[in-house]
Amino acid sequence: SPPAIIAPSILSADFAELGKACSDTISQGADWLHVDIMDGHFVPNMTFGAPVVTKIRSHVDRPSGAYGKGTFDCHMMIAEPKRWVKDFKKAGCDLYCFHYEAAISSTAADSPSGTSNEKTSPKELIRFIHENGMQAGIAIKPKTPVDVLWEILDNPVKEERPHMVLVMTVEPGFGGQSFMADQLPKVRALRQKYPDMQIEVDGGLSEKTIDQAADAGANVIVAGSAVFGAKDPGEVIKKLREAVES
Ligand code: DX5
Ligand code: ZN
Repeated sequence: SPPAIIAPSILSADFAELGKACSDTISQGADWLHVDIMDGHFVPNMTFGAPVVTKIRSHVDRPSGAYGKGTFDCHMMIAEPKRWVKDFKKAGCDLYCFHYEAAISSTAADSPSGTSNEKTSPKELIRFIHENGMQAGIAIKPKTPVDVLWEILDNPVKEERPHMVLVMTVEPGFGGQSFMADQLPKVRALRQKYPDMQIEVDGGLSEKTIDQAADAGANVIVAGSAVFGAKDPGEVIKKLREAVES
């Protein structure tokens, strides 16, 4: 597997001190920031949009290359993933991770705005994200089988292939939920087929669940409550990394 990447989810940070929370977690040893964007439509919760990302971006140094320290990993739990690509690029997003389920079902009829959302296939969306200068990730919810990804990942056209897959290990929408170990066969199947791919897990990761996830082959580890709820977040980040690297 590629090296361990620890990506604290700022969903569990103090939103009144978000800039400081971001720079603190990076200095405590985090690699990326996992930024959860929720629209109250794709998931039953709302967070914030591009204007907030723009403001917090300035508190963290830019990554020097793809996937470097300080990467803004934006997890787009939104019904209209194509619509926000340009705004998030402008806001400083480095890795735009959309949901497969939203991409395949987003039509004007589904759209909260009722307009302007072009129906787009995952491969077209990935190409569009790349054209806008970001890395692309694709996320699947717990009820989505991993099989839907093979066609997308085996696409011979490089521009239409994602760099990362996110396997959700909770139903998206809230921090602090229990880890779903029954999602790990998806991670294992992905790692078997793609030894070098970035495979991210998100939801319920902690010192208690990390060993299972690492053993299945995950290398990008999101943790919200486990990091921001800890007395010593740096220690938790270190333990998560050691578990993946051992
Ligand atoms: C859930 C979010 C997660 C969340 C994880 O919809 O995508 O990133 O913050 O929180 P924990 O680590 O507390 O489960
Ligand atoms: Zn997330």
